Amino acid sequence: MLSVFLSLLILFGVLQQPALAFKKSYIVYLGGHSHGADVTSADLRRVADSHTQLLASFLGSEEKAKDAIFYSYKRHINGFAALLEDEEAARIAGVIPSSSLWNKARFGQDTIIANLDTGVWPESKSFSGKGFGPIPSKWKGICQFDHKEGPLCNRKLIGARYYNKGYAAYAGVPLNSTYNTPRDVDGHGTHTLSTAAGNFVAGANVFGFGNGTAKGGSPRARVAAYRVCYPKMNESSGECYDADIMKGFDAAIADGVGVLSVSLGSDSVDYINDGTAIGAFHAVKNGIVVVASAGNSGPTPGSVENVAPWFITVGASTLDRKFQANVQLKNGSIFQGMSLSKPLPEDKMYTLISAAEARAADVSEEDAILCKEKTLDSKKAKGKIVVCLRGENARLEKGEEALRAGAAGMILCNDESSGNELIADAHILPATQLNYTDGLIVFSYLKNTKNPQGLITEPKSVLNVKPAPFMASFSSRGPNAITPAILKPDITAPGVNIMAAYSESTSPTEVPSDKRTTPFYIESGTSMACPHVSGVAGLLKTLHPDWSPGAIRSAIMTTARTRDNTGSPMKDADYQKATPFMYGSGHIRPNRAMNPGLVYDLTVNDYLDFLCGIGYNSTMVGQFAGAYYDCPNNYNILNFNNPSISVPDLTRSVVVTRKLKNVGKPGTYAARIRSPPGYSVTVKPNLLKFEKIGEEKSFKLSIKVNGRRGAKSVFQFGELLWSDGKHYVRSPIVVASPNQ
Ligand SMILES: *[C@@H]1O[C@H](CO)[C@@H](O)[C@H](O)[C@H]1NC(C)=O
Ligand SMILES: *[C@@H]1O[C@H](CO)[C@@H](O)[C@H](O)[C@H]1NC(C)=O
Ligand SMILES: *[C@@H]1O[C@H](CO)[C@@H](O)[C@H](O)[C@H]1NC(C)=O
Ligand SMILES: *[C@@H]1O[C@H](CO)[C@@H](O)[C@H](O)[C@H]1NC(C)=O
Ligand SMILES: *[C@@H]1O[C@H](CO)[C@@H](O)[C@H](O)[C@H]1NC(C)=O
Ligand SMILES: *[C@@H]1O[C@H](CO)[C@@H](O)[C@H](O)[C@H]1NC(C)=O
Repeated sequence: MLSVFLSLLILFGVLQQPALAFKKSYIVYLGGHSHGADVTSADLRRVADSHTQLLASFLGSEEKAKDAIFYSYKRHINGFAALLEDEEAARIAGVIPSSSLWNKARFGQDTIIANLDTGVWPESKSFSGKGFGPIPSKWKGICQFDHKEGPLCNRKLIGARYYNKGYAAYAGVPLNSTYNTPRDVDGHGTHTLSTAAGNFVAGANVFGFGNGTAKGGSPRARVAAYRVCYPKMNESSGECYDADIMKGFDAAIADGVGVLSVSLGSDSVDYINDGTAIGAFHAVKNGIVVVASAGNSGPTPGSVENVAPWFITVGASTLDRKFQANVQLKNGSIFQGMSLSKPLPEDKMYTLISAAEARAADVSEEDAILCKEKTLDSKKAKGKIVVCLRGENARLEKGEEALRAGAAGMILCNDESSGNELIADAHILPATQLNYTDGLIVFSYLKNTKNPQGLITEPKSVLNVKPAPFMASFSSRGPNAITPAILKPDITAPGVNIMAAYSESTSPTEVPSDKRTTPFYIESGTSMACPHVSGVAGLLKTLHPDWSPGAIRSAIMTTARTRDNTGSPMKDADYQKATPFMYGSGHIRPNRAMNPGLVYDLTVNDYLDFLCGIGYNSTMVGQFAGAYYDCPNNYNILNFNNPSISVPDLTRSVVVTRKLKNVGKPGTYAARIRSPPGYSVTVKPNLLKFEKIGEEKSFKLSIKVNGRRGAKSVFQFGELLWSDGKHYVRSPIVVASPNQ
């Protein structure tokens, strides 16, 4: 429990020296200590250090924190007393309310979170070992950084390995020291690992933008990095190969990892041919929670990846902060864009030109407007702001092309499919990005104006943006192409414009002429959404060490939210209502996930039965099981105890069973149904009474087609909700009927 309160000794306030008159003495109470009677002086120093670090993350420096703290409670009571301004105290209390999962789960203390990714930048402050106790004894991993680089692992970053023989086999050439190290030369792995479990780091910013305290979902967890991804060799090569990924899983299981964050994927294939699915199965079998990204192939339907039911599969949505850089047209119109690029050199109106208009000889308008490589004529673009269209080639490449053509700046307008999704990019030239509707107006202004002019304002961070969250257009979508009876993704989490630690060996734009490096950077993708869920899984693991990966997955899914911060149903990037094929059960709500009331638990045998149910024979299931497995007769995967319900092929009616386990106080839960349009759904029994923890009760859900269905097979969406008035255990229902 954490609470921040004014130490109510009025005398103290009165006795304060005038210079401190606006500061008051506050107690930041963090609960009890778990160290026993034989506490060492090192333990005590560590506790004091952790108090300094915590306060430093709010005040901006360790010096300020040390000056402010006048007591550290180190032996039985955990907390400290400090002289703080009211505002500072309110910030501490506000960020860390005492009832939050963060606080109850001690910030993920001593859970081990690892990722399979591009490695780690060990010097990042997000992975500093300062203030951490001895490495948990269950840890069996190693640190493979070259000894010449010194001891780069520490009590926070407790392990780092690399596996590249699969990649090397494809490359067909020996790999040099850039590859034979867990050091991240890309930034992706550092970013995802720090999002899951990076320390509190004050003063984190990207080239001065977005200054604040960075922290991961489980900031007191220990971390390990398994590097299995390497720079692309050419257009057709991969970055991460199954052989290396499976080796990473194998090592992580043996090393004692608790949560694995897997921000990688490829087109979905059958589980038996998918190294990530097989590796993840064995991890989950060993009690590890495996969180994976849904993929960035949206908005195409059926594009979701990592669809096996033992993954927590994560889609990406926006958050309520933006980096706003406006476009002002000379006619007075103003449009709100998004950017992390530097401002224009001069405070004046610049001539605007459509990239199609600025095209080089022999280049089509279609290619030029996308600002593809070598499509612009510098005689036409020089000194102007070029207006490009989003789509096809990478956003940052468009900026590079505009710069090559001598443009002073770039306005990047969304195409229809990217709609309202704005990404804050640090382009190599002054630039901003506009949504689809605003972009259309700018293009029409260019077309209909004699001497079109405009400017881009300097980016500013803006909070409490509405509506948020909404789905990123790039986030991969259901239905699940491998097993449509399992709804995927499972959940959505922030994945647009996420700031986290970065590799300092590379420029964030990866544009060759860009020599900038930064310890923190903003990235977008389901890769960024995945570790948010990994961080929450780490907290749940600390709080409920006895929960299975299936129980943690259920707690996260059934407590998710499907409305945005205006109270309306969450939207897609194209402003249409989003569906469970985009967000699964909804947007993650960590504080609800800690106390879900009931869970749809899953055992290893449930997963094996699932494999039997999709037609794997005993030999194949035996490979997953590690021993002969006796498949049940005619196991129906509709009855797999998933926390969501998907019936992709319903001709008349079906009965689906599920089993709920009580993980909260005794209570009676009543079922509420919102039937998918065109279907009727009933539950039996519709009251479930639980008397003790661990008690399990089954129910049956009947889904019936109403009358004659229309000709088209379209998915319809509904929901099942169990509630005792305090807990809300919600499952999406997805149904489709075949053409008739
Ligand atoms: C890409 O690189 C790999 C490994 O060097 C090579 O086998 C393959 O032919 C290359 N493909 C192309 C299209 O260049
Ligand atoms: C390692 O090889 C890559 C690819 O061939 C090359 O780009 C890089 O400069 C090399 N690094 C070192 C340290 O030699
Ligand atoms: C970021 O904030 C910290 C603490 O408030 C401050 O000391 C620092 O100067 C700021 N840095 C930038 C680049 O604004
Ligand atoms: C596009 O952005 C503008 C802000 O410049 C906003 O007013 C408008 O509502 C957005 N378009 C849609 C359809 O949301
Ligand atoms: C500026 O021009 C655009 C495009 O022609 C138009 O939609 C907009 O209303 C104009 N703004 C003002 C303030 O007249
Ligand atoms: C199981 O299926 C595999 C792959 O189709 C096949 O090779 C194998 O012979 C089958 N085993 C049995 C016992 O039917």
